[in-house]
Amino acid sequence: MNAIETHDLTRYYGARCAVNHLTLSVDREVFALLGPNGSGKTTTVLMLTTMLHPTEGTATVCGHDILRDGEEVRRSLSYVPQDMAVDIKLTGRENALLFARLYGTDTPKDRVDELLAVMQLFDRADDLVKTYSGGMRRRLELVQALVHKPEVLFLDEPTLGLDVAARATIWEHITALKKDGMTIFVTTHYMDEADRFCDRVGIISNGSLLALDAPSSLKARLSNDVITAHIDGTFRDPGVDGITLFSFANNEASFLAENGREALPLLADAFTRAGVRVRSLALREPTLDDVFLHTVGKSEEPAGFDQTKFRTMLRRRK
Ligand SMILES: Nc1ncnc2c1ncn2[C@@H]1O[C@H](COP(=O)(O)OP(=O)(O)OP(=O)(O)O)[C@@H](O)[C@H]1O
Ligand SMILES: [Mg+2]
Repeated sequence: MNAIETHDLTRYYGARCAVNHLTLSVDREVFALLGPNGSGKTTTVLMLTTMLHPTEGTATVCGHDILRDGEEVRRSLSYVPQDMAVDIKLTGRENALLFARLYGTDTPKDRVDELLAVMQLFDRADDLVKTYSGGMRRRLELVQALVHKPEVLFLDEPTLGLDVAARATIWEHITALKKDGMTIFVTTHYMDEADRFCDRVGIISNGSLLALDAPSSLKARLSNDVITAHIDGTFRDPGVDGITLFSFANNEASFLAENGREALPLLADAFTRAGVRVRSLALREPTLDDVFLHTVGKSEEPAGFDQTKFRTMLRRRK
């Protein structure tokens, strides 16, 4: 039995399919669901945590069916949502104790003290959460999530809006939890983090799972070199056989080629012939970003990236 199993898990909002026949298993690992805005990550997590009914399909968490055994499912997991989940008018300790008591933890005070110490919040535990930094709030959310010793932890964008050091700290904690045998299901937009810290990743687009493997295997599967070109002025794909354009953003075009060393001068010549001004050309190994762009293509959210939603979310974290 895997900690999480889904079979054809599907969710429609009206006529729009948000999650489309998702089938996967996750067990005692850090698993990341990656996908553009609006691809169905949060909807998936909401179904697995029993907060949203699937339209079709099934899933189990620790062997419990999300539809039939909701209570057992909720007992075995914890969920830290994408938006803030702590009360800023309470202290860190009060927030954590509230959760510990709600969960019926045996020795709530001791458990909370232990977790506050692990998450490096002990010294500030009696300060109001509104005085905490974004990283501290996220760590407090982890304290809350861990009070009842869940077997499975769902983290929706755990490091969004945090600085580099705070992100590294969160990942240290996540890695330590996995070593203790926990199954951790995260969603993230940070490919470098998924690459470094996750055992396997699934790439979802328009609700459909397009790729599922260890980051190193996904990168190896591209089995090509990546050539990036910084463009001055107007860009046009010069269309060289065997050199495939797979993304263009912020004046940087990325191409895949079987043999980068041979392709580089051919591409440079083709750009010159096409009258495209190139500031620099570089050759590198594929990254998870490349895998993602290659798999998903451009962001597909019809309304585009929701800046307002993003800013509101960051503000709420401050
Ligand atoms: N309550 C809702 N009612 C209607 N449509 C919804 C609702 N929640 C989500 N959607 C739609 O379902 C799709 C998937 O949304 P979801 O929030 O799961 O995406 P996501 O991958 O978590 O995105 P993000 O990276 O921005 O958090 C989107 O098209 C979204 O607009
Ligand atoms: Mg989301």
